[in-house]
Amino acid sequence: MNRFVLRSVKQCLVNGQRYYGSGGGGGMVYGSALVGRSVHLSGQRNGVMFGGFEWRRMMSSAPASMEKAPSEKKEQEKEEMKGKDVVASSYWGISRPTITREDGTVWPWNCFMPWETYKADVSIDLKKHHVPKNFLDKLAYKTVKFLRIPVDLFFQRRYGCHAMMLETVAAVPGMVGGMLLHLKSLRKFQQSGGWIKALLEEAENERMHLMTIVELVKPKWYERLLVLAVQGVFFNGFFVLYLSSPKLAHRFVGYLEEEAVFSYTEYLESIESGETENVPAPAIAIDYWRLPKDARLKDVITVIRADEAHHRDINHFASDIQFQGKELREAPAPIGYH
Ligand SMILES: [Fe+2]
Ligand SMILES: [Fe+2]
Repeated sequence: MNRFVLRSVKQCLVNGQRYYGSGGGGGMVYGSALVGRSVHLSGQRNGVMFGGFEWRRMMSSAPASMEKAPSEKKEQEKEEMKGKDVVASSYWGISRPTITREDGTVWPWNCFMPWETYKADVSIDLKKHHVPKNFLDKLAYKTVKFLRIPVDLFFQRRYGCHAMMLETVAAVPGMVGGMLLHLKSLRKFQQSGGWIKALLEEAENERMHLMTIVELVKPKWYERLLVLAVQGVFFNGFFVLYLSSPKLAHRFVGYLEEEAVFSYTEYLESIESGETENVPAPAIAIDYWRLPKDARLKDVITVIRADEAHHRDINHFASDIQFQGKELREAPAPIGYH
C-alpha cells in the first residue's frame, strides 16, 4: 500500500514536472506556433543535470533504499538519459547560448559564467590587522573574538564543517550592505560610487565559497538547523546594525574576515599535517578559480583564504572611509578586487 502511494505521488510529481518542463499542451502550442523556438533549461553539474532533470532526480533518489523492479529501473535509466536532452519550450524566448571553455569543452555551470571567474591573488598579506583604536573598533573586535568561542567549542577540529558554517554567515553582510546602499541610492537619487556592486560581489564570492565547501562536506541535519537559526538571528541583527552604524558594521565584518583568514590557515595546516585528506578539488572550484585540473583541496583552501583577506581589506577600508567623516560613494569602490 505504502509503495503504491509512494509510486503514485512520484508519478504525479514527475508528470507535473514534465508538463512544466516540456511546456505542456498550451505552452507547447504557444512555444512552437508563436515563437518557433525552444529554450534549453538544463545544464550539467558534476555529471548531474539540473533544471527540470534535477527535480526528477531529487524525487527519485529520495527513497534510495526502495527496491525497484528491473523494468522500472530500466525505465528510470531511460528517463535519465532523456533528461540530458531536456528542452523546455517557452513563449518568452529566453535561452542560453552554448558557452565553451578555452579548451572548447562545454561550460557546465549556470550559476556563474567564464567571465566571472578569476585567478585569486594569493600574494596578499595575510597578517594585516587593524589595531582597534576607538570604542567602536574595540566593540567590533571584542564581539568577533567572543563569537569565536562557542564556534570553536562546537566545531573543534572539524575544519570543513566550521568553514561551511562560517560561509553561511559571511555571505550575509555583503548582501545586506549592498541592498541598503541600493535603497539609499534610490531614495537620495545618488550614485553609489560602485559600492553596491562591490558589496554584492563580496556576497556572491562568499556564496561560491559555500557552494564549494558543500561539495566536500555534507552538513548533518542539526548543522542545517543551526544554519537556519544563525541566519535568522544574524541577518536581522546585521540589518539593524548596518542601518544604525555602517562604519561599525564594516569594522565588524573586517574583523570577521581576519578570523576567517585565521580559520582557513588552521584548515590548511590540518591538510599539510595529513589530519585532513587532501582530496581532489571539486569541479566547481576548478572552474571558478581557474585552478589546474589536478588541483587538490589545499589549492582550494589557499584561494578561499586569499579571498577572505581581500574581504578583510574591503571592509576595513569601507569603515575607515566613514570614520574619516566621508560617505562610501566618495571613495572609488574596489570592484573586482580579488
Ligand atoms: Fe568565505
Ligand atoms: Fe570573506
